[in-house]
Amino acid sequence: MKIEIRGNLPDYFKPAYPEEFELFSHFEVTAGIPTVLFAITTWKENGQPNVCFHSWSCFHGDKTAFYAVMGNLYQHTHTYANIQREKCFCINFLPISYYDKLVDTIHHNNLGTDEFAVGNFTLSHAKTIHAPAIQEAFINMECTLKKIQDLSGAGITAMVIGQVQHISVEREYAQGYKPRYGKEGFMMLIPAPQDLVTGAPNQSAIATVNIEKLD
Ligand SMILES: Cc1cc2nc3c(=O)[nH]c(=O)nc-3n(C[C@H](O)[C@H](O)[C@H](O)COP(=O)(O)O)c2cc1C
Repeated sequence: MKIEIRGNLPDYFKPAYPEEFELFSHFEVTAGIPTVLFAITTWKENGQPNVCFHSWSCFHGDKTAFYAVMGNLYQHTHTYANIQREKCFCINFLPISYYDKLVDTIHHNNLGTDEFAVGNFTLSHAKTIHAPAIQEAFINMECTLKKIQDLSGAGITAMVIGQVQHISVEREYAQGYKPRYGKEGFMMLIPAPQDLVTGAPNQSAIATVNIEKLD
């Protein structure tokens, strides 16, 4: 038997906090699909470096190009303005041990704030674009802006697509599965899976990857 969830917010879904379903679609917590967590780094208009913790994304391409598709970036963020102005950004993959520092950059988010200093991150310069990069990241991905599209047209979020120009990989992460997958590797967000029977809310979870099988 399958539980059917329709386009309208089900009456029995209880929000985790009052405005949850004003901010997010109920489909997000219906499906609870994990996505990788990373930091987007850009320059603010005043020259301060900006860090943005981000999740809703995927990465793919064909033989001609590889894209970072950031499916849902809030339009009110500094990052959105910075990417529109600079036409480029850097994506930085950090292990779960950096979670708290990345959240600190959300709580200290003024225009005048050096968010690398807030997170205690070492700033390096991207090699092919005008963007700061986080030295502690095990992968840095340099992107030029390919396209921005407001999928819903509501002016709330936008899909921002970057074309990957360059990737830097930490030497220790350059061979095999460890440590890229596991506690030192990619950090994942599991969006608060709603109890689809009772409608009770849940907490989001932060996860790492456990390899089960090789193909
Ligand atoms: C775990 C986690 C995941 C997040 N994922 C996203 C995301 O995918 N898109 C987004 O717009 N904001 C996301 N945020 C919120 C941004 O990190 C937050 O709005 C940030 O302050 C924006 O920074 P900026 O204004 O310096 O660009 C996330 C926050 C957390 C804690």
